[in-house]
Amino acid sequence: MGYGIILAAGKGTRMKSRLPKVLHKLGGKYMVQYVLQAVESVGIKESIVVVGNEARMVQDALGEGYLYALQEEQLGTGHAVMTALPNIKDEEGHVLVVCGDTPLIKGVTLQKLWNYHLKTKSACSVLSALLPDPTGYGRIVRKEDDTLLKIVEHKDALAEELALNEINTGIYCFDLKVLREFIHDIKPENAQGEYYLTDMVSLLGAQGLVVNAFIADDFEETQGINNRSQLSLADKNLRMRKISSLMEEGVTIIDPDATYIDQDVIIGQDTVLEPGTFLRGKTVIGSDCIIGPDTDITDSVIGNGCKVNRAVMVEAQVGDLCNIGPFAYLRPGAELGNQVKVGDFVEIKKSRIGDQSKIPHLSYVGDAQVGGKVNIGCGTITCNYDGKKKFQTIIEEGVFIGSNSNLVAPVKLGEGAYVGAGSTITKEVLAGDLAIARGRQVNFAGWAIKKRNDWENEQE
Ligand code: UD1
Ligand code: CA
Repeated sequence: MGYGIILAAGKGTRMKSRLPKVLHKLGGKYMVQYVLQAVESVGIKESIVVVGNEARMVQDALGEGYLYALQEEQLGTGHAVMTALPNIKDEEGHVLVVCGDTPLIKGVTLQKLWNYHLKTKSACSVLSALLPDPTGYGRIVRKEDDTLLKIVEHKDALAEELALNEINTGIYCFDLKVLREFIHDIKPENAQGEYYLTDMVSLLGAQGLVVNAFIADDFEETQGINNRSQLSLADKNLRMRKISSLMEEGVTIIDPDATYIDQDVIIGQDTVLEPGTFLRGKTVIGSDCIIGPDTDITDSVIGNGCKVNRAVMVEAQVGDLCNIGPFAYLRPGAELGNQVKVGDFVEIKKSRIGDQSKIPHLSYVGDAQVGGKVNIGCGTITCNYDGKKKFQTIIEEGVFIGSNSNLVAPVKLGEGAYVGAGSTITKEVLAGDLAIARGRQVNFAGWAIKKRNDWENEQE
């Protein structure tokens, strides 16, 4: 079904940014990715992305699924389409042209435009919208019979045209043959000295071809992003869409205004999200969990029935029925089994923790393999780094580690072993043994009393 042309070569001067506009992120994804996703959802298999500004960066970000057309100089949206067309092999058919800076556009709306375009047999169908404040957009000027006369850019518009509130959304369907035939007739004779794609409307009209505008049901969807305020509003819009769909699927979200969920996050039924929760990237959360308040989870997987309170997680995996926090930090490669307890001020990195193990307070566990039913006492630290290399700590099933112990890696604690509190373990402890590695206690009878007496005598 036809081709897509996505215009993404502009710099986005009004963003005041080193990043090209279309690579600014909303809801954890690049702006232009939403456009591509909407285009794909209409069944368009082949899209040409017009790149120019930071072309390499845009291509690297979007990957190999698309054809790229390089627009070396950004001479306008019409010029961008001219650049894209040689990539289309078919002679006949239709193309959907979308600006890369309208991330709120939905697939259903593109589908409606496409259907309308085919039904009306138009040479060009423009998606328009009625805006309360049309400032900045190209205005739609209709003929008496309601077909289109032209599109006038804001900067070129006369006072009576500026008063029109039907605007060009920057989304169009074109008959491919007609587009090819007339695109090179566009002239850069306007306020900005650019080749405007919008001039195709009057050009095609002058050839006696049918040009129509189809009004979008929801103007919010069609908003283009040109500056950071619009970026933030669009981000909020996408977030609220995501939150509504999660609530429809049975997730409780206590305060949607204080909950931040990226578009690709998946959450199971009857999970409750408390305020201050950020769920980012490819995070997946099971059913019946309580997440938050004040929790930040990125690219992590959490099972069912977990409680996560005031925690930060990055690329971590958590089984079922785990209890995490408050104030826990799971770093990349942290893998918890089921029913694991990770309490306050515990950091875990690149370590697997077996079922029913407990690390309740003030610990660092890094580069460790921890079996099931292990108890890691308060203040235990894996000393995994010698300043140059990292080493492994192996703690087998059922080990009990007394509080404030240091495990100097590489080291192994065998099944069911005990470590006395305050130990610095540097050698293997065999299964079933007790290790105590600390200075032996020596008591001096009456020493403190004598010392205090000496001090009192000195003062007199
Ligand atoms: C454009 C339309 C305007 C419409 C608005 C909708 C034109 C002349 N104007 O204006 O009628 O109301 O979108 O949001 O088309 N781009 C290129 N190469 C270029 C220039 C632009 O690829 O040489 C890309 C940009 O990266 C951007 C898109 O085209 O993604 C739109 O460009 P922008 O400068 O934002 O156009 P507007 O002024 O918003
Ligand atoms: Ca724009």
